[in-house]
Amino acid sequence: MQTQRAITVQTLTDYEQLSAAATRFVTRQLEANPRSLLCLATGSTPTRAYQMLAMQAAHFPALFSELRAIKLDEWEILDDPGSCEAYLQKQVIGPLGITPDRYTGFVTDASPNAECRRISQWLAQNGPIDLCILGLGINGHLGLNEPAPALSPYAHRVLLSESTRGHSMLNGSAQKPRYGLTLGMAEILQSRQILLLVSGPHKKDQLRKLSQGEVSTSFPASLLWLHPHVTILCDRAAAEP
Ligand code: GLP
Repeated sequence: MQTQRAITVQTLTDYEQLSAAATRFVTRQLEANPRSLLCLATGSTPTRAYQMLAMQAAHFPALFSELRAIKLDEWEILDDPGSCEAYLQKQVIGPLGITPDRYTGFVTDASPNAECRRISQWLAQNGPIDLCILGLGINGHLGLNEPAPALSPYAHRVLLSESTRGHSMLNGSAQKPRYGLTLGMAEILQSRQILLLVSGPHKKDQLRKLSQGEVSTSFPASLLWLHPHVTILCDRAAAEP
């Protein structure tokens, strides 16, 4: 384990080991506080960890019976198999048996701005997030906080960059969304703990850039340096020079 000032970096041999480590991180959090509020990223990186958590939940349902969850972000598309909602229902909400009273997230059939206000209010009343699980965007985004001259503190609607619109989650979608909805940077940074998962050679440059410790809104993940309890779990493919 290597400690770089505020950010702890742990490099695992491969994606499977990274996912096992992430699973342990989440279960330790639930052992310490069964009612933890987890913020859930989507994308390919956390998928295996979510599957491992589902296996744990099958054996130890009590550990998962009180946790609460909030969706990190959502594409502005309606009823699409590539939506973050479809992903979370399949990978997490269903398998972990999270009941509707313990889960919230952006819905896309409402007015986007009203929906962002609703989510921010929900978080103000029910937060802060105890453990925020994040992935690293190919352009350095966190959630859908895209690189920009200024970032928004609260949940907001965001114009997506071309690289984000090309995300593999949307490969089967008839229409690529132009906008997304995301928790804002303050809501993310107010989490008690943050877990960033980084896997694969295509994230090498981004991880190196993040490790430099320069904070800039042109690389939103770098704002994690402002948080006192960030752990990065990466695999060798992402970490090796
Ligand atoms: C998308 C998701 C994010 C995710 C990111 C990284 O933008 N909306 O929540 O963190 O992609 O995805 P991946 O893990 O597939 O690289």
